[in-house]
Amino acid sequence: MNYREKFEDIISGQLLRIEEMKKDSGFTDYRSLEKTVIGVIGGDGIGPAITTHAQKVLSSLLSEEIKKGKIEFRTIEGLTIENRAAKGKAIPDDVLEEIKKCNVLLKGPTTTPRKGDKWANVESANVAMRKALDLFANVRPVKIPEKDIDWTFFRENTECLYAMGSQGMNITEDLAIDFRVITSQGTERIARMAFDYAKENKKKRVTIVTKANVVKTTDGKFLDVCKNVSGDYPEIETDDWYIDIMTAKLIDEKRRKQFQVMILPNLYGDILTDEAAELQGGVGTAGSANIGKHYAMFEAIHGSAPRMVQEGREKYADPCSVIRAGAMLLSHIGYHERSEKLYDAIEECTVKEKNIRLTGRDDGATGAEFADYILSKIS
Ligand code: IPM
Ligand code: MG
Repeated sequence: MNYREKFEDIISGQLLRIEEMKKDSGFTDYRSLEKTVIGVIGGDGIGPAITTHAQKVLSSLLSEEIKKGKIEFRTIEGLTIENRAAKGKAIPDDVLEEIKKCNVLLKGPTTTPRKGDKWANVESANVAMRKALDLFANVRPVKIPEKDIDWTFFRENTECLYAMGSQGMNITEDLAIDFRVITSQGTERIARMAFDYAKENKKKRVTIVTKANVVKTTDGKFLDVCKNVSGDYPEIETDDWYIDIMTAKLIDEKRRKQFQVMILPNLYGDILTDEAAELQGGVGTAGSANIGKHYAMFEAIHGSAPRMVQEGREKYADPCSVIRAGAMLLSHIGYHERSEKLYDAIEECTVKEKNIRLTGRDDGATGAEFADYILSKIS
């Protein structure tokens, strides 16, 4: 295929995606389902160890529902780098089929191969799953109570440079081109989710983050659509910032307290949420919710730490981020009170009390001990 044909292909694919988005109905109401299936994907490296601990915590909180058959935990096998590389697919077909039989997913980190690795250069499993299940909203809360920080990032999760990250073109030996996609429909749904969240949670301000002064067409559209949506929420103050100065302002102690809810295109969201998580205590402390209308996936945002496994230290890995992701999962499927309880217990164990210390080595606690510590604060 020559590059003109490939370009036409890309455009028709995206126009089709817009038609699909236009048809999309409302959100699945999990409380009205007879049964909610929670798929558990261990992933790579330390993933299986830490997700096991998170599953134990959630199972304990949902024990009644599990007995009644209202909740089922289901282990999804095969989303490992070995299997993905062998099949040459970001998500092998049979694994995707099993995933689609679940309603929500709890996922450990998965290895993303990069050029030059020993693995086939398959697309990131995260990115592929976000696309396959249309998980358009990446919601990342960052809270640092002692510094008066309470941020919730709404990162668009299916468009921007990620939409065709593996489909760039080398036009000649010297000219490489990637494609950045922003659609009205894709922007409107993330903006509505952010403003609805702000309204329900009595937040006063929503901040739109772009680089629309330079990236005029795509970021220009993102900004316009978000501003249009803001018109339906007159009680909420809306402002807009450019990503460069926003990155600076997150470390400005006076200014940063004013931010509450942020909406960002995919790549800026990827970067800014790592910065925010680092301020909270490291990317290992943050959880992330990938939400679509019919599926949702909750995951740790850190990597798979292969070195810890090579050195036999996975049992000392910190399960906090997957447990936090579990708290988001609970709230998403309708168990708000239990989710709050879990958040409180995490805070008690990691900020207030700290009776158990995880060091990642045998001079600290194990992940299993940490999970028991959290549970002891709940029951
Ligand atoms: C994240 C990660 C992923 C992303 C990687 C693993 C592809 O950094 O969830 O933020 O870039 O979205
Ligand atoms: Mg990231």
